[in-house]
Amino acid sequence: MRVNVTVNGRRMAADDVWEGESLLYVLRERLGLPGAKNACEQGECGSCTVYLDGTPVCACLVAAGQAEGREVVTVEGLVCGDDPAGEGGLHEVQRAFVAAGAVQCGFCTPGLVVQAHALVERTAGRVPEDAEIREALAGNLCRCTGYEKIIEAVRLAAAQRTTATPSP
Ligand code: FES
Ligand code: FES
Repeated sequence: MRVNVTVNGRRMAADDVWEGESLLYVLRERLGLPGAKNACEQGECGSCTVYLDGTPVCACLVAAGQAEGREVVTVEGLVCGDDPAGEGGLHEVQRAFVAAGAVQCGFCTPGLVVQAHALVERTAGRVPEDAEIREALAGNLCRCTGYEKIIEAVRLAAAQRTTATPSP
């Protein structure tokens, strides 16, 4: 079957999609967007987190057909279009992860960045409590960092957001 989906603001179509195929597979293997990572394929690790109609979801748990006509934003879609700071077009949440040293192997990072982005958007105007950050990221597993640097990155991104204009 054909699946039509808007991804990062662009209307896209994937052909020959099998009925049991996941949105994650379609994004990675058919639409050339490898940002969302495939680790557990069971909704356990959060590495595949993307926005679906504005809500973070595990793309491995969404059947491709369920995404028909809907809007997906992947970690690639968070990249800033203009890059006045010359930092590779990274979104401010991504820059905060780099600044805090919250990236080691990086496999969990795309999912964490999307989930952190959602939290920072939800709590715009304030820096969330650590417990709130931990709860928001509870579905995203990292084997490398021990999480402290990740929490620091979210704090940093939120603090920057309190003084900046919200961006998509
Ligand atoms: S790959 Fe989707 S939650 Fe782990
Ligand atoms: S940085 Fe390696 S799994 Fe998180």
